[in-house]
Amino acid sequence: MTAPYRVFVTRVLPGNGFAELLEDPAFDLDVWPVDFPPTRDELLEHVVGVDALVCLITDTIDSAVLNAAGEQLKVVSQMAVGVDNVDVAACSARGIPVGNTPGVLTETTADMAWALILSSARRVVEAAEYVKDGEWKTWTPTQMAGVDVFGSTLGVVGFGAIGQAIARRAQGFGMRVLCWNRTPRPEEAAAVGAEQCGFDDVLSQSDFVCVSIALTDDTRQLIDARAFELMKPGAILVNTARGPIVDEAALVSALEAGQIGGAGLDVTAIEPLAMDSPLLTMRNVVVLPHIGSASLATRGKMADIAVANLRAGLAGEPLPHSVSLAVDG
Ligand code: GLV
Repeated sequence: MTAPYRVFVTRVLPGNGFAELLEDPAFDLDVWPVDFPPTRDELLEHVVGVDALVCLITDTIDSAVLNAAGEQLKVVSQMAVGVDNVDVAACSARGIPVGNTPGVLTETTADMAWALILSSARRVVEAAEYVKDGEWKTWTPTQMAGVDVFGSTLGVVGFGAIGQAIARRAQGFGMRVLCWNRTPRPEEAAAVGAEQCGFDDVLSQSDFVCVSIALTDDTRQLIDARAFELMKPGAILVNTARGPIVDEAALVSALEAGQIGGAGLDVTAIEPLAMDSPLLTMRNVVVLPHIGSASLATRGKMADIAVANLRAGLAGEPLPHSVSLAVDG
């Protein structure tokens, strides 16, 4: 009998696929047992000699990790759609496929963007805290009054599957929807009743600007001081993609200056957000702990895809979902 595949899994995963993997004698699993990710040193130690790595967005998978693992490493399978924490180019150059988990989290993440749109506009979190803090003494005409969502303009920056799902939901709110994507997507825009515009137009005409784009070298700090200057006074920024797409210092300045109306952030430049961040002192900012795809059903499906990618990679088959780059030569 051939030796089982050695696999380091950087956290306990949900889903049936992982439960089956644990019982499968073809796999020798080293599962990181606690919620906190392995430290850099622990990661470098646990990957030595593995055939495969299953990782999360909190794990930095770079050349040093690939070197530490060794030449037998056959696949890197990430349980997330975004893979900015993985040096995909370095993996691809070594012929190591990288898997991700798109599709199943699209609608769940779009729901969360909408939770942030609605809670930022209608001050839901602030108002709930007000009640809990015993501040609710009476009813007044302007108590906790926010801004209307229905009939306003939504701007979607990045028009992939999640951006389109966010836009589709806006139809129910009678909104005008503007979208921008690096590669124009006119058919997808028309399908959800959105107008494709230039980047600056989306920023300057929208009441809600939703960031829904992958983090790459091109999109890092895409929403910068200039972008905030373009935005309408009172506009609300929502980010369910990746924190570093927004220049967080510029966001704080724009909020402090009252240049924009508020922000709903599921992601921050550094996660977890430092407790001394000015963002946490602002009543018009809602910060969530990166839970865009966090429904139990969706997280189970994501883990199942990560396991399917792992199995395919070890079998030398194409991954069901791969982000590997074409390598010249
Ligand atoms: C989560 O942020 C993901 O990329 O899936």
